[in-house]
Amino acid sequence: MIEIDGVAKRFGSNTVLDGIDLRIAPGEVVSILGASGSGKSTLIRCINGLERLDAGSIAVDGQRIDEPKGLQAARRSCATVFQLFNLYPHMTALQNVTLAPIEVLNVPRRQAEEEARALLASVGLGARADAYPAQLSGEQRQRVGICRALAMKPRYLLLDEVTSALDPEMTAEVLDILAKLATGGTTMLFVTHEIEFARQISSRIVFLEQGRLLADLPTAQFFALEGGLAQPRIAQFLSKMSKS
Ligand SMILES: Nc1ncnc2c1ncn2[C@@H]1O[C@H](COP(=O)(O)OP(=O)(O)OP(=O)(O)O)[C@@H](O)[C@H]1O
Ligand SMILES: [Mg+2]
Repeated sequence: MIEIDGVAKRFGSNTVLDGIDLRIAPGEVVSILGASGSGKSTLIRCINGLERLDAGSIAVDGQRIDEPKGLQAARRSCATVFQLFNLYPHMTALQNVTLAPIEVLNVPRRQAEEEARALLASVGLGARADAYPAQLSGEQRQRVGICRALAMKPRYLLLDEVTSALDPEMTAEVLDILAKLATGGTTMLFVTHEIEFARQISSRIVFLEQGRLLADLPTAQFFALEGGLAQPRIAQFLSKMSKS
C-alpha cells in the first residue's frame, strides 16, 4: 500500500501540493487527471523521494520514505516511467533493461539478460534488443522504458504521461501494453491526459487542481453526473479535453 498523508510541497512561494491524502492499494489502477501545472508530476516525484516534502508523510508498504531505509525500499518497490524517454544513450535496449537488476538487485547477468529478452519480446521488441536508443523510434524507446521499469519486478508502477510525446498510432501501441499490465494485476498510478483510456483501465480516478485533490472516486462515479461531473471544474476540464 502507498499511503500519502497530508502532503504539501512548495517551490518558493508557489504551493504545488496542498494537503494531499491518497491511498493506493495493491492491485489498484489509479489514474491522476488534472490540468497542466496542477502538480501531477510533482506528486509522482514525491513518492520516489525525488522531492523533499514540506509537510505530511508518504509510506510505502508501511515504511516512511523520509527514513533512509524506507526510501531505499520504496525505490525498489516503485518503478517509474517518465514522460521523456530517459534511456542511457550509450547502452543497448538490453543493457538499459538489465542495468538496475544487475547493479541494484544483484541478479546474475545471464539471468538478467534472459529476463530482459523475455520482457522485450513481450512488448514486440524481441528483435531489437541490441539496438541503441538512437536507432529506435520514440515509441520503441518508451516500450524499452516500460521494460526497464518492469525488470525491477516492482510492486507499484508509476507512469507519468508516458504517451504524451507519441503520435496517436504509437500511443495506441503503448496503451495496449499498459492495458495488458492493468488486467494482469500490476498496481499502477497513472498520470495521463488520455481520458478515455483512463476510464477504461482505472479502478479509481483522482483529480488534481492547483495542488489539491478535488476528487478521488471510483471510475464510474467520477464520470457520472451525480459524481465527479457534478463538480463544475471537473466537468469543464473533461469537456475541454474531449474537444482537444
Ligand atoms: N523544480 C521545480 N522548481 C520550481 N517549480 C517547479 C519545479 N517543478 C515543478 N514546479 C512547478 O510546480 C507546479 C506543478 O508542476 P508539475 O510538473 O507537478 O505539474 P503537472 O501537473 O505535472 O503538469 P503537466 O501536465 O504540464 O505535466 C508548476 O507550477 C511548476 O512550474
Ligand atoms: Mg507533468
